[in-house]
Amino acid sequence: MTMNRLLNRHRPSPGYAFVKALTAIVILSVVIQGSFYLSSFSQTGRFDDSFLPPEKPEEHLKPSHVAFGLSGNNPGFFDEFEVALKSVLLNAPLDRNLSVHILADNDALTALNDLYNKTDLAKWVSRNQIQIQSYNVSSRLKDMESVIMHTWEPHFPEVKTLWQVSFHTMGTYFRLFAHWFLPATAEYVLYMDTDVTILANLGELWQMIEAKPDVLFHWGRGMCAGFLAMKVSRIDEIWALARKAPLAEIRKKGRNRGIDDQLIFIAVNETHPNEVNRLPDGYDLTHSLKWHSSNYPYHEVYPEAFMLHHNANGNSPLPYWNSSRIIQQHHDSWGLMEYYIHLPWTWARFFARSQL
Ligand SMILES: *[C@@H]1O[C@H](CO)[C@@H](O)[C@H](O)[C@H]1NC(C)=O
Ligand SMILES: *[C@@H]1O[C@H](CO)[C@@H](O)[C@H](O)[C@H]1NC(C)=O
Ligand SMILES: *[C@@H]1O[C@H](CO)[C@@H](O)[C@H](O)[C@H]1NC(C)=O
Ligand SMILES: *[C@@H]1O[C@H](CO)[C@@H](O)[C@H](O)[C@H]1NC(C)=O
Ligand SMILES: *[C@@H]1O[C@H](CO)[C@@H](O)[C@H](O)[C@H]1NC(C)=O
Repeated sequence: MTMNRLLNRHRPSPGYAFVKALTAIVILSVVIQGSFYLSSFSQTGRFDDSFLPPEKPEEHLKPSHVAFGLSGNNPGFFDEFEVALKSVLLNAPLDRNLSVHILADNDALTALNDLYNKTDLAKWVSRNQIQIQSYNVSSRLKDMESVIMHTWEPHFPEVKTLWQVSFHTMGTYFRLFAHWFLPATAEYVLYMDTDVTILANLGELWQMIEAKPDVLFHWGRGMCAGFLAMKVSRIDEIWALARKAPLAEIRKKGRNRGIDDQLIFIAVNETHPNEVNRLPDGYDLTHSLKWHSSNYPYHEVYPEAFMLHHNANGNSPLPYWNSSRIIQQHHDSWGLMEYYIHLPWTWARFFARSQL
């Protein structure tokens, strides 16, 4: 294995232009509107290794899966998504494949096309295979609404419309429907809000997830739903357990917090704590939870920073870096998100290639 690694580093570069483009795949009768692979560096052939002892068949680690939920085509939101996606691609696992799943409604799909074009993603080469798939969720929005309303109505008689429980966009619930769209091969999925950036290698998180393989989901102490990893085959159970939980009481305990997707996860955490895994604090660097000076200096209190979550712009049409001053005020922590904000896509592409 060690030898293998060493050799890989010295293998000649295979050239940079293989593109495997896929179009119009149909899975589970959901049309995948745009889908393509970033070509990976071939691990076999192109190299005379006849003088080496025969290799054992390689045992592949399972791929990582990351999901985003996009609703509407608000440009500020898309700018954020672009930054989050860049941080995911640049921190792709070193020894696993990566699939990025984008759950998008019709407007978001149109905006996505422009993004694919602008970023030239189909021309990237990466160390391992990276697949990006978008799913058109439009035809299932009514079904989603029905699941959502049936969950809230028995507990909150005041809830009459989706509007009251969705911050004006259903997109916030897409994470809880990932199992309707992702392929059955996706065992676990990391869901990220668009105002999260990844700082360290995703493989690290996957080891943690696989160490607790059966829990419903993994999240941080702050119980923030903007960054959580779910077991895809058990997402329906999250809904079922939430429906059975005393939701109104749990909400009151949380100082009458909002009725939203996060409350569903909180309810499961409260009633079935053994089904939830808590990630280390470096996986929960959410501004609204960690801004206070009792957490300074961040690099000492949280020496293992995995992500940064900005979470402060509410419904602003502008991206977080233009609608709040958090980045300026915390230049040595959340301010570091600027790296991904400013990194041009051409440089990002070169970075990925440099990791072959
Ligand atoms: C990544 O996927 C490709 C295509 O399915 C496969 O050939 C390769 O072995 C996978 N790599 C890893 C590290 O699993
Ligand atoms: C991408 O954008 C360029 C310039 O805006 C345009 O000429 C080209 O046709 C677009 N390509 C696709 C595939 O949309
Ligand atoms: C998405 O699905 C909706 C409803 O099925 C359809 O009307 C729309 O054309 C689709 N959008 C794209 C971009 O394929
Ligand atoms: C969430 O679960 C953890 C245990 O995993 C527990 O320590 C924490 O108190 C729980 N929070 C709530 C609100 O139930
Ligand atoms: C938005 O933020 C970017 C990056 O920090 C900056 O270059 C730009 O001037 C800002 N635009 C507005 C309208 O504030």
